[in-house]
Amino acid sequence: MTAAAAVRAFTASGGDFPYGPVLDEFLRHGKHHVPPDLLDALAGCPFDPVLVDVLLDKFDKRYDYRSYLALPLLDRAEGDRDRLVALLLDDAIAFEEAPGSRLPDLRPADTAKRVRHLRRARPALDVTPTPAERLLLRCTMLPVATVHDEHLFIRVLQAFELTFAQIVTDLSAFSPEALHLAADRLRSRGPLWSALATMSVEAFQRFRRYTEGASAIQSRHYKLMESLARRPDAARLASEAYLSVPEVRVRVLAGGPTIDAVLTPDRATHAAMTDFAEALTQWRRTHYRVAVRMLGPDRPGTGYTAGPSYLAEARAIPVFTGCPFRE
Ligand code: HEM
Repeated sequence: MTAAAAVRAFTASGGDFPYGPVLDEFLRHGKHHVPPDLLDALAGCPFDPVLVDVLLDKFDKRYDYRSYLALPLLDRAEGDRDRLVALLLDDAIAFEEAPGSRLPDLRPADTAKRVRHLRRARPALDVTPTPAERLLLRCTMLPVATVHDEHLFIRVLQAFELTFAQIVTDLSAFSPEALHLAADRLRSRGPLWSALATMSVEAFQRFRRYTEGASAIQSRHYKLMESLARRPDAARLASEAYLSVPEVRVRVLAGGPTIDAVLTPDRATHAAMTDFAEALTQWRRTHYRVAVRMLGPDRPGTGYTAGPSYLAEARAIPVFTGCPFRE
């Protein structure tokens, strides 16, 4: 039975949702090229609307950064986020170490180096996925094409997204200790950039053709993190940077508290703010370098900005007022 027929049978008579055939079909073709009969069948299927929305984003023309990375599925996952990051990175490592590749195009000859970087970035936890987590891992790997390196790209983005979410929680404590914790968290994920830099430009360009409209400029947690530290300037709030995250923009316009405004400027606070500002500035610099390497200096981004020149400007934005770590 085809995946489309299995979905229709489920819609007609219930039973277990055919995860295996559906997800296999998405991987076999890449999300951009899934056969229309499967998409039609899913469109008429009353199953888990969060999953079905993620699967049908391109079909419904709602495709964006959140649906590309299946963030609605990761957001609703229960449990500790460090555990989830460890599971995502273990999955990335297992994929790189597997003898064959389910995404066969442009498979790199040697993946040992990226595996070493992934191991260094991984939270030091002993984790074995539960059956529900195994399913979550499968449902959150929906590449647009069949290029080997897109697997790494997706897992690295997801791991950073979860880290931004953790940092938003940290910063919401408005304490110097929380700022140090957030800085450590961001730094400990740093080797993910080295892993990503092992991706070939050719592989990246191959799958990027199909990611137009999905850009991390739409990352809510990144902008929440930034705007919790300091209220963005009016020009940035009125630009694509915040127009791409309307929920966060509304929050900022409503005048939510910021670390900059709330914390008393004593010695301990200053040291903690400097620590976090340094870690975030380092993150921005590395992101800029990797983006230039993959795109060249002046190719536009998938979020409709000018690309690296947008990032060069964003890199210079002070994390806190009077922050010494400017580019
Ligand atoms: C091949 C690697 C990457 C390239 C070429 C790249 C490129 C870009 C570009 C051109 C932008 C500007 C917005 C746009 O028009 O799309 C951007 C924004 C952004 N990227 Fe990346 N990126 C890469 C990897 C990552 C990773 C791994 C993350 C981690 C989540 C990330 C997070 C962000 C964030 C948060 C923004 C918004 C920054 C802001 O608005 O100030 N990027 N990226």
